[in-house]
Amino acid sequence: MASDRRDQAVRAAVEHALLPDSQPVVALLDTAGVRASAAALRAAFAAVTDAPVLHAFAVKASPLVPVLRLLYEEGLGAEVASPGELALARAAGVPPRMTVLDSPAKTVAELREAIDLGIAVNADNPQELARLDTLVAARATAPPPVGLRVNAQVGGGTIDALSTATDTSKFGVALRDPGARAWIVRAFLDRPWLTRLHTHSGSQGVPLARMADGVRAVYELAEEINEAAGRRQVDTIDLGGGLPVNFASDEETPTYEEYARLLAAEVPGLFDGRYGLVTEFGRSLLARHGTVLARVEYTKTSGSRAIAVTHAGVQVATRTVYAPASWPLRIAAYDAKGLPKEGPAVDQDVAGPACFAGDLLAVARPLPRLEPGDVVAALDTGAYYFAHHYAYNSLPRPAVYGYTVRPDGTVRFAAVRPPQPVAEIVAESGGELRDALVAE
Ligand SMILES: Cc1ncc(COP(=O)(O)O)c(C=O)c1O
Repeated sequence: MASDRRDQAVRAAVEHALLPDSQPVVALLDTAGVRASAAALRAAFAAVTDAPVLHAFAVKASPLVPVLRLLYEEGLGAEVASPGELALARAAGVPPRMTVLDSPAKTVAELREAIDLGIAVNADNPQELARLDTLVAARATAPPPVGLRVNAQVGGGTIDALSTATDTSKFGVALRDPGARAWIVRAFLDRPWLTRLHTHSGSQGVPLARMADGVRAVYELAEEINEAAGRRQVDTIDLGGGLPVNFASDEETPTYEEYARLLAAEVPGLFDGRYGLVTEFGRSLLARHGTVLARVEYTKTSGSRAIAVTHAGVQVATRTVYAPASWPLRIAAYDAKGLPKEGPAVDQDVAGPACFAGDLLAVARPLPRLEPGDVVAALDTGAYYFAHHYAYNSLPRPAVYGYTVRPDGTVRFAAVRPPQPVAEIVAESGGELRDALVAE
């Protein structure tokens, strides 16, 4: 079980001295768990369609080259949304034909690079499409697949900041706005090379039924375009990602299987083989397989509240610290040997190292009473957490290790990202430019 593997890994991390005084916070990734999620995703769609499906991992969820490589080995491509993410996917060896470029703010240079490399592009808006007109016209050969992102405006979820299909979302062409539908159909008829539709009605907090509504809206649009064109001009539909993750327990819900079945029931025409499919899942592939470990440095009380001051805070859990109601994290307590901590639960704040009062991973959380030298684990942090470092207080990026538990129970660690040396922080912070503002 994933939670047993995690306990074994925490103990081994302590025994292998992965949490020394000089690096009192570290991140772990359950390699077998990541592989299992990738396999579950592939199986879920293979069970409902024979159509070709590209599962393009949303690189933003875990922008780490070894992770992208692992997923590529598991048959997944990459959805990228910036030059940096594209470079990471390329460094991981993900080929152009398995890469998709989204992003609402692509520059001409980015668009040109993607097209020259043969990477599929989803245009966000009419102005971007006009740029693509120019780039495509200048080519002697056919461009790679180009699509248009549509906001089906089916509504949001419980987290405003992650609701991409609201009436006023910044992404894509708003399908229900006056005149938009007719404009989209015309845009396709005028551009024979425009062959894909894209939508992403997630992410976390959006009910599956609403995501399916978005997919249905885009499927119906594809049918209308193809009818008007008198041919299968739209040949591929990109469903985006957005499967929510259960951060409250070890139960994996919802599953890819549930979502694929729901889509197949709600939008059967999408799965009858006439359309190729692309998915762009991120959080659901990685979140549950990541754990941040941090040493408890001090414990104290303030007012009546017990507080454990640890080394994991805003730098590794930015969303939780700034939006705790939307992003609560489970915390597990281990002793100084890395064994699950026993004892009566006491309400405690689990605080981070940063110098502002809100730097808390959990407030009044019932846990066995923590002591200096204990280890706290922030669970389900494999996506959009430790790989998204926030450099408050010039705190360094922690090391990331993948782990696998061998049949004999021993744990093998593989370095995924080295810990950031302090000298690098100085260099990144203009260390070589010390006199830039004082020199004449
Ligand atoms: C276009 C697009 N695709 C995919 C994703 C991945 O979403 P998730 O990590 O929720 O699966 C996002 C997330 O923001 C996105 O904007």
